Amino acid sequence: MASKKFENLMQDFKVDKKTNSEIINKRRVINGEDDGLMQVSPLKHPFADEIFKTMLHNNWVPQEVYMGKDLEMWKDPKILTENERRVFERSLAFVSNLDGIQTDNITSNILRQITSPEITLALIRQAYEEALHVHSYSTMVEALELDPEEIYGMYRRDQGLYEKNQYVLKSLSKISGDKFKTGTFENDQAFLEACVSNIILEGIYFYSAFMIFYTLKRNNKMPGSAEMIQFINRDEDLHLRLFIKIVNEIKKEQPELWTEDFKQIALQNIIGAVEHEVGWGKSCINEGILGLNHNNLEQYIRFVADMRLLAIGMKPHYNVTNPFPWIENFTQGAMTEVNFFEGTVREYATGTLQW
Ligand SMILES: [Fe+2]
Ligand SMILES: [Fe+2]
Repeated sequence: MASKKFENLMQDFKVDKKTNSEIINKRRVINGEDDGLMQVSPLKHPFADEIFKTMLHNNWVPQEVYMGKDLEMWKDPKILTENERRVFERSLAFVSNLDGIQTDNITSNILRQITSPEITLALIRQAYEEALHVHSYSTMVEALELDPEEIYGMYRRDQGLYEKNQYVLKSLSKISGDKFKTGTFENDQAFLEACVSNIILEGIYFYSAFMIFYTLKRNNKMPGSAEMIQFINRDEDLHLRLFIKIVNEIKKEQPELWTEDFKQIALQNIIGAVEHEVGWGKSCINEGILGLNHNNLEQYIRFVADMRLLAIGMKPHYNVTNPFPWIENFTQGAMTEVNFFEGTVREYATGTLQW
């Protein structure tokens, strides 16, 4: 589909009396006026510029992470139990599926509808980072000499994983397809629902999988993998923040979309995601690994879901505390910091994990 953005430029020249300020004042996340020429100064959505600049500080490549110790541990039958290996492989399969889905979703579905150039810049950087994450998982598969068929093909053999991926795609697919365009009430709500699904993807599914790698590291197992995940987690924090800001900004710009019915849909999508995640998590850990059991796993996922509800102005649904406060050591407080989503983004040091 040809981009609507350049429509004005495709007509014969005539002097346009509009000023830049007028154009920028009318700028919106979706359905705004956008000539496609990426005028990002001054800004209408400064949060996107702030996030973009922080993303630029977060340069890293998976080759920086030393995986030699992990290979030794993986090969040593005394270090990891069969169950731990299984959990590791299943978590890796799922995060690699998620980043694959997200790379395509950002480039094919989301970016096409955005009419704010500064948000476009941040999303393009996000797409690059998702591609980097895809590459990170393949680096892990190769470094640990895993069978790629085992990891990448798992969703074709494992019904739980297949259905979880299917659930992730459910509301994203409502805005996919060349013909989809925002501009009607129904389509704008579909887009907003997909943005909430991005929060679910970035902020619930990933966090649950990351916790598995941190649990292993906390028990001195697979430290390189946990470091890789920390780099990825640092990126995902910003993706999560970006989509929370996008949802809250669309709510401000088009408050008519945020109906009681819509809030119910958003809540049900989050509850459904929690149920899928809990079911999957329980089947992954079996009888439990390293202090992780069915109860605290479920409580953790519910806690994370409440954080996401709060961030988009909804009431917490589960009202539970974080059963793994130690996780803060890995995420630098991103999980529970009260003003994380409204405050200024942290200054990150280039290429290091000293956040
Ligand atoms: Fe990612
Ligand atoms: Fe992401």
